[in-house]
Amino acid sequence: TGKGLKDHYQDYFPIGVAVTPRHLQDSATRIFLLQHFNSLTAENAMKMEPIHPATDRYDWRGADAIVHFATENGLKVRGHTLCWHNQAPKWMFYDAAGKLVSKDTLLNRLRTHIHDVVGRYKGRIYAWDVVNEAVSDRHSEFLRNSLWYQICGEDFIAQAFRYAHEADPKAILFYNDYNTENPVKRDKVYRLLKKLREENVPVHAVGLQGHWSISDPSRALLVSAIEKYASLGIKIQITELDVSVFTNDKMPEKPDFTAEQKESQEHQYDMLFDTFRKYRDIITGVTFWNVSDRSSWLDNFPVKGRKNYPLLFDEKLQPKKAYWRVTDF
Ligand code: G3I
Repeated sequence: TGKGLKDHYQDYFPIGVAVTPRHLQDSATRIFLLQHFNSLTAENAMKMEPIHPATDRYDWRGADAIVHFATENGLKVRGHTLCWHNQAPKWMFYDAAGKLVSKDTLLNRLRTHIHDVVGRYKGRIYAWDVVNEAVSDRHSEFLRNSLWYQICGEDFIAQAFRYAHEADPKAILFYNDYNTENPVKRDKVYRLLKKLREENVPVHAVGLQGHWSISDPSRALLVSAIEKYASLGIKIQITELDVSVFTNDKMPEKPDFTAEQKESQEHQYDMLFDTFRKYRDIITGVTFWNVSDRSSWLDNFPVKGRKNYPLLFDEKLQPKKAYWRVTDF
């Protein structure tokens, strides 16, 4: 199967990819994954609702399949995600009468969830996205006004990290978010992490999701975010990398993937990986979100009915020119 992306980066950091259990059932995809990647993230199987659909029921099948495949093949696994406002099961927040539960009840349920999930994979999942996307995108708000926040205030964040650390003291615990380079959000994420660290909360690293586009971020913004977070003495990973072919502000007239978009995407990937390599002592992993242009969460986003082509491999799992740009150094 020849040299793959992970081999080009073996002196820098692991190269990961988000997968579903279905990917692992196809032999061509399995061979492709093992050629290019040495770390896996479950795209959905380890989220709160899929893995813990009812208060007294877990569904371990998807997570077990991914962890089993990784362990069998010597791949690392990043756990995603223990506490999030999205795909959190309704039962977590309400009592039998349908009323919102108290802060203590919710924190006890969160603790049980985290101990059960982290405990099951202790020693096999080296890093967890403990809290995902808790900082608000709205200028007027510091933290997102989720049910977690409405019921617990900001304490749910510190507690989630403490529970995860209790369950697996060796796991590297991440705070994970998107748009982390945007100066306003960057400074809020920094403020949150600084406060947690000052309170001796076991947060060891920050995940920059990296859902970027051909027009953002600039190298300058990426560098300033890396430097700012690194100044807290924490490590950084790019946890959900893709480069949308649509710029954030304008939709191309043509429905398909134009030559101009291709060129811009190649340039953007080249800049990103050049920057990652320069910060190899701080960046401890780069994970792509979704496997190839065959299917991306960005298909139909931002425009319904429009495919996106955000990854390094095309719909036939073949390397695009951007792949050769990021492996030629
Ligand atoms: O599995 C159910 C299925 O049983 C049901 O029939 C179907 C229709 O309702 O929904 C299926 O669940 C969907 C799930 O993907 C699995 O396909 C959810 O509706 C859908 O919302 C979910 O979307 C995921 C999204 O997170 C929300 O969890 C995307 O696949 C996933 O790529 C996306 O990933 C997130 C990261 O976790 C966090 N960072 C942002 C990133 C992109 O949004």
